[in-house]
Amino acid sequence: MSQAIKIAPSILSADFARLGEEVKAIDEAGADYIHIDVMDGHFVPNLTIGPVVVKSIRPHSKKPFDVHLMIEPVDPYLEAFSAAGADIITVHAEAGPHLDRSLQRIHELGKKAGVSLNPATPASAIEYVLDSVDLILVMTVNPGFGGQSFLTSQLAKIARIREMIGDRAIELEVDGGINPETARQVVDAGADVLVAGSAVFNGGDYGQQINALRGSAPKI
Ligand code: DX5
Ligand code: ZN
Repeated sequence: MSQAIKIAPSILSADFARLGEEVKAIDEAGADYIHIDVMDGHFVPNLTIGPVVVKSIRPHSKKPFDVHLMIEPVDPYLEAFSAAGADIITVHAEAGPHLDRSLQRIHELGKKAGVSLNPATPASAIEYVLDSVDLILVMTVNPGFGGQSFLTSQLAKIARIREMIGDRAIELEVDGGINPETARQVVDAGADVLVAGSAVFNGGDYGQQINALRGSAPKI
């Protein structure tokens, strides 16, 4: 199977004092999506950005904004992130009892709907929402911070979810500890969208880093 790999740099590792310029820079360096990590200090032990910041960086790129909501509750904020310019809105399966409702709401807002799984959450948690999602995000670290080490325990889950997806048009994204080496492992397991924060922003030339991640796709 040949896979077109997409790279989604996470702006969590960007220079927040120059966020607009950083977004423009990763866009020009070849990013496919702009990955935006939203944290609430409750669902995860960190605080990051809200809809106001998403809106302010929106003019700096025409690439899809891939908004990863690590917040609980999530439903009250979906409309605000939609209005701020999100294209893909991803919610966590663990963030509330009504995942199906959240996914429906995202579609009602006219956006692509994603669901994310923490490392300890089994693939079976999303078995009955597969026909309601456009993207599945497997966390390969415990969410909350950039720069953590990749959890190899998640490779089997990625492979299992790739099987579950079958011929559905669902993207399989991974997030956490992705570098050129782990990129190759997750792509081999079936991932087709790679989030990378520190590997893109802390490695020097953004274009070179993005190419290094993309180049890890198997040549088939
Ligand atoms: C972690 C975030 C990630 C993070 C990845 O909770 O969801 O998107 O920025 O950072 P790296 O690539 O440095 O692991
Ligand atoms: Zn993320």
